[in-house]
Parts: sequence; structure tokens; C-alpha cells
Amino acid sequence: MSVDVSNYTDISYKEPGKFEETRYEKIHNVIVDSSNEGSLIVAREIADLIKRKQQANKNCILGLATGSSPIKVYEELVRMHKEEGLSFSNVVSFNLDEYYPMDKSNIQSYYYFMHEHLFNHVDILPENVNIPDGTISTEDLYQYCIDYEMKIKSLGGLDFQLLGIGRTGHIGFNEPGSHFNSGTRSITLDHITRADAAPSFLGIGNVPRKAITMGVGTVRSAKRIVLMGWGINKAEILKETIEGEITPQVPATYLQEHNNTTFVLDQGASSELTRIKTPWIVTSCVWTNTLKLKAVVWLSELTGKPFLKLTDKDYNNNGMSGLLTEEGSAYHLNIKMFNTLQHTITGWPGGKPNADDTNRPERANIPKKRVIIFSPHPDDDVISMGGTFERLVEQGHDVHIAYQTSGNIAVSDEEALKFAEISKSLSPDCKEADAVIETLNKKTGNDVDSQEVRKLKALIRRSESLAATRYLGLNDENVHFLDLPFYETGTIKKNNLSQDDIDMMCSIIAHIKPHQIYAAGDLADPHGTHKVCLDALFESLEKLKHNSYMDDCWVWLYRGAWHEWESYEIEMAVPMSPDQVLKKRHAIFYHQSQKDGVMFQGDDSREFWVRVEDRNRLTAKKYNDLGLADYAAIEAFKRYHF
Ligand code: F6R
Repeated sequence: MSVDVSNYTDISYKEPGKFEETRYEKIHNVIVDSSNEGSLIVAREIADLIKRKQQANKNCILGLATGSSPIKVYEELVRMHKEEGLSFSNVVSFNLDEYYPMDKSNIQSYYYFMHEHLFNHVDILPENVNIPDGTISTEDLYQYCIDYEMKIKSLGGLDFQLLGIGRTGHIGFNEPGSHFNSGTRSITLDHITRADAAPSFLGIGNVPRKAITMGVGTVRSAKRIVLMGWGINKAEILKETIEGEITPQVPATYLQEHNNTTFVLDQGASSELTRIKTPWIVTSCVWTNTLKLKAVVWLSELTGKPFLKLTDKDYNNNGMSGLLTEEGSAYHLNIKMFNTLQHTITGWPGGKPNADDTNRPERANIPKKRVIIFSPHPDDDVISMGGTFERLVEQGHDVHIAYQTSGNIAVSDEEALKFAEISKSLSPDCKEADAVIETLNKKTGNDVDSQEVRKLKALIRRSESLAATRYLGLNDENVHFLDLPFYETGTIKKNNLSQDDIDMMCSIIAHIKPHQIYAAGDLADPHGTHKVCLDALFESLEKLKHNSYMDDCWVWLYRGAWHEWESYEIEMAVPMSPDQVLKKRHAIFYHQSQKDGVMFQGDDSREFWVRVEDRNRLTAKKYNDLGLADYAAIEAFKRYHF
């Protein structure tokens, strides 16, 4: 199937900082709706270049990146090769980097990555593929790097360099401190980089400490550079890179001096740029209600004043005089915004029966609602919305929990061994226990878990979940374990969503016919499962929305363990008393395999229950600082309209 690209955003280079909106920016960037759209645009630019070079009978020298950012670009290039005959026969590729030391056969190697995602599926000549060699001996490494650099130069330099950016601001593996003119060399990885790579290595301890990388100078000498930034996790570093001063502490800022670099960003990644975060500072705005609330929250935080104390002068001094003219006076605007936020607060997440619901986030009618809480892993329900979950049950709604994935990969081998040994002691003839004990005792770093081990790990998470849901007052028959197939690879890399996944999601929704669905709208999950689970829900809603029972269904998105909605985004805020906070904590404690040094920790060393308590407390504090009541904690939701 060919893809229509006629309406695509133009990403060709334009000088940054020349327009009103971009006056804070020092690197040309283009913001697209989604990483999918951005990837197709980038792939098209690469394909066009390859073809142009082909017509001129020349080689096309490509600098390529690995990681999560370019995956879709490679997928699209492979599609173009298969469906549109795009040939790679004139392509010579140079990859940015490789872990060191690293075997080519290791599934974590960039060698493996590139072959898996691109080279095995296109007609590039094997001799034209260059990837830093992680097996080179330490004695030969220095010369090897010089040769790599010289080979690029001898071919006339890179025509195009594809980049992602690390949260340290690295490009390639040029970590903070890298020199403007550095060449290909070995480097020690930053702690944040290792923490970000930890999930694919099943723990930070397994992430190599060193790497070989092309230098900043090597990258900068490319004739054209395109850097992709996807997701909210990259927003801070991208703002620093695009708007900050050039500094070795953020090596990507060196790209400010390159005159043919374009950053392609999705909505999340661009969210900290001045023109997106505070557009009123750079230009005149069309003041939608959401933008008004966003601006007033920002002003209140900036001045340290609650809404009701903001003055005309505060607005005028901070680029918001246009808003003031539209609204008449600070007094009126303040009250309006105060009420908007006030109306998000409710202790009745399922709606308050027999109450006037004009200014409540949920409907009063249908006093007993059927509710599905979708939880990507078997603990996100209690971590992200344990307080709201308890209230829904307590207030008599028919609550169902649907765990989308088994979460088996996040159970450590030690934990699994413990349970296998208990089973063995209880039942000495248990063959499965024998098999698990034997496999685990023999397991080495790279081995994928056997079916039995995965089954046991999934069972551990199931029984933890049931303990928690029982504690919150739910009957076991209201707890559903979907075990969506896309997740069941036994490795970090998951399959794409299939029809089976969507069918399973549709079937539970069609069976329960919910009035409310809660789901994780958390796109910052470091290994992406939350995003896939959300995509599965969105696809299912699209399929089912024509059924009359869906007319009454409202979808509320919570955020998982990593981020919270901004105050201006929240459409339902459910406050918790200190006792409810404690109860939620205890519910989380039932997920024992995820306590104390969990496998998918991210770079935050706090345990999940600590993180989420801090976060719920912070949401409450932010509301209080804006002038609303002082609650112990708040869980936050945003409505999704389908
Ligand atoms: C990969 C590379 C790195 C990544 C960066 C972002 O070859 O050189 O600079 O581009 O770490 O990684 P992802 O895309 O996984 O967020």
C-alpha cells in the first residue's frame, strides 16, 4: 500500500529565529501531530535523497541512528523498498555508535538492531554497511576509530545524518563534556543514558559502561542533519538544545552552528518550547478556554499568587494584555478561571446521584454505573488511581478491572525461583516446578524465559493483583486478565498490535457495556507498553463506537507512574483524605514483586508507591497554591472524546 504524502508538512531547512514565534529558537524545528507522521516525513526525505543520488549515478552516504526514535523511519523505508521499489544499492551507511564491548550476535547490540530493523529487509550491499565494531580489541580501538572517521571522509563525508537525542543532550553517544570538534572515539556512558537503556538490558547492571561513537565533529560535517524528538520525556532537553546557549554540557546545542539542521518534533517533545508552552510571550494568541486556563495557571505559578489575587498589572506585565482586553478585567477573568478549576474537583468520580451535575465533571444520572478500569500492567490500577478505584467501589458502582498484559517480564528470576521452590516443597512431584527451577538455575544474561517460567511469573502478578483488588472490596469475578498477545514475546521488544489484541479488548467492552472507562493515558512509560495498550483501546473504541451502548460511555485517562497531567489539563480531580492515601499505599504493597529495586525502575530511584504519593500530594498542593481547598492528595483525570 503506498502512502499519500502530498499533504505532508514541509521540513526543508529554514533559518531559525527569524519569525516572531521562533524568536527564542536557535535551531530550525518542525512540529508534527505524531511521531508516526514525523517518521514518514523523515523517511520520505531520505528516500528522495537516495533517488536523487541514484539519478546522478552517485553513492548516497547515510549516517544512521538506533534507539526507539528511528524505528518507524526504518519501517517506512523497508515498506518503500518492498512496495515502491526503492533501492538501497547506492547507499553506503555509517552508524553513529555501538556499545563497547559488544558481540554482534547480542540482541542488545546496535549491529543486531540495524539488521533486524533495516538491513535484512533491503538491498543494501553488505560491504557498504559500516557499524562501529564492539568486538575490536582495546589495543586496536584507537586506530579503529581513526580509520572509521577516515573512511567517512574518503567517501566525501555524510550526505545525511539521522539523529535521536538522549536525555543528557547526547547525539550519538557524545555525552556531556564532549568537544565541538571530537571525532570517532570510545566514550564512557552517562548514568542517565545507562538508566534509559536499563529496561532493554533487564537492569542497569547489565548495561555496558562504554561505547564507540562518531564525534560531534563527525556529525557536524554532515551536509544535512535531521534529529527526531518523540515524546514528553525529551521535552526538557529539547528546549535546552533549541533555546539555550551552546555548551559542552548539552552536546546537541552544538547543532546550533550547523546551517542545515532540522529537528522534527511531536507534540509531547515540543511541549516545553516557549512558543508552545507560553505562546502569549512570543505572539498574539487566539484565546481558547484551554489556553486561557493554561495561561492563568502559568501566571499564578510565576507570580506565586493564587488566581483570585492576580491583578491587571500581573497580566499586562507578562504578555497577557490581549487576554485582559478580551475578558474586561483581571477580577472577572480570575473568578472565571477559579470556577473552572473548582468544578473539576469531585469526591464522586462516578457522578453524584440526585445532585445538580451542571458543574460536575461526571453525570448524576445512571446512579449505578458499569465501569471498566483498564490497567496496562497488573498494578497500574492501584498505583495510578487506587483512591478513585476505592471510591467507585464504595459508592456502589459495578467496577471491573481489566489487566491488559500479564506483566510477566517485570518479575525477577529470584522472585520466580522463590515461588517455584515453595511449589516444589508443597508438592514434590510437581513437574512444572522442577522445570522452572532447572531453567532458572541454568539461565544466563541473554536467555529468553521459557514458557513455564513466563507462566509462573504471570501467575505471581495475578495473585498479587487479586490480593490488592480484594483489599479494595472487589469480587474476583470482576477482575479480568486479558494477557494481550502483543506483550507475550518474553523479551522487552513487543509485537505490534494484532487483530487478536483488538478483538479481546472489544469483547470485554461489548460484554460489560460500560458507562465509564478508565485507562492509562501515560505516554512516558520508558518501554512503551502503556502507549500500545492505549492504542489498543483507541482502536477498539473506534470499532465499537457505532453501538448504541457506547453513547453513554465516557472515557477518563489517568497517568501512570511517571508523569501527571498539568493542572490546566485536569478535567476531574478526585481528592483523597490522609486515610485514603494510606489505604492506597497498602493496596500497592500487595504488588510485592514490584517492590524494592524493581526491574523497570526508570531513572527515578523512588519506589512506585513513594513516587505516586509525592505526585498526588503535589497535584493537591498545586491546586491549593492556585487558591483552591487544601487536600492531602489528588488523583487526576482528563476526558478522552471518541
Ligand atoms: C543511537 C544514538 C543515541 C540515540 C538517543 C535517543 O544510535 O546514537 O544518541 O539516538 O539515545 O535514543 P532513543 O531514540 O531510544 O530515545
